[in-house]
Amino acid sequence: MPITTISTIAELRERLDRVRADGGQVGAVPTMGYLHDGHASLMRAARADNDVVVATIFVNPLQFAEGEDLDDYPRSLDHDTELAEAAGVDFLFTPSVDEMYPFGPVLTTVTVSEVSAGWEGITRPTHFAGVATVVAKLFNITGPVHGYFGEKDFQQLAVIRRMVDDLSFPVTVVGCPIVREEDGLAMSSRNVYLTAEQREAAPVLRGALDAGLAAIDGGERDPNAVTAIMAALVESEALAELDYVAAVDAATLATPDRLSGEVRLLIAAQVGKPRLIDNDGVTIH
Ligand code: PAJ
Repeated sequence: MPITTISTIAELRERLDRVRADGGQVGAVPTMGYLHDGHASLMRAARADNDVVVATIFVNPLQFAEGEDLDDYPRSLDHDTELAEAAGVDFLFTPSVDEMYPFGPVLTTVTVSEVSAGWEGITRPTHFAGVATVVAKLFNITGPVHGYFGEKDFQQLAVIRRMVDDLSFPVTVVGCPIVREEDGLAMSSRNVYLTAEQREAAPVLRGALDAGLAAIDGGERDPNAVTAIMAALVESEALAELDYVAAVDAATLATPDRLSGEVRLLIAAQVGKPRLIDNDGVTIH
């Protein structure tokens, strides 16, 4: 089926209601556009699991704070449409801000406390409420059986999983692995902001994750020792300004006294204009 682009909630609902009336299952892939192979991997996963795939492109003002890049967030609808179609998307939902928030600022928001508070939440205290609110809205608009999210935004994935559990959304959240460039940089729409020099420096985040994983592999179980090794590596790169490094429990995102079980290493650093984030996981038996 060729891709169909729809920009109103009413029309999308009507089309997806028909799918469900015929017994079809919908898979949803929320995005902010400027799509790359990371997004495509989510779409392909959705294609494999569902009768109908809807991808959404909406640069959600609610999740940007004052001074962030809302106005110059990169956009490229023609390229996005081609990529989504090639990845097997049936419906591309591209609502305007007025369509999503017709009454102006929303009075109803979804806040997932605790999981949203640390790490990204320290630099971006209003971000995850904006994400949770728009994802709740997109789930209500699209009525998916499965929702697809990348591990690239590991804390976001944890926030959405908790929202779905706490509010009993009838949606199974599917987490998909991080897709990387050849040199290890995690794909991100914001990588386009990097200058050539910064682009060369950016894989230092992947390097720091590798150093942390190697330390754990060598028997290190003290989270502070692991993060010190990671931080030293990032600090050796003049173009990267470290925001945080963490070695956390993958489910709670809290730092344990000793590393055990499912561990996630998280990292965030400013490299020129973009703030880059990355993470990787290991199971300690
Ligand atoms: P966006 O940054 O466009 O990302 C959309 C989805 O693609 C997210 O689930 C993200 O984790 C995933 N993704 C991005 N880069 C990836 C990569 N390199 N590998 C695998 N998956 C990747 O995240 C958002 O938009 C928004 O916050 C959104 C959830 C759409 C709510 O507005």
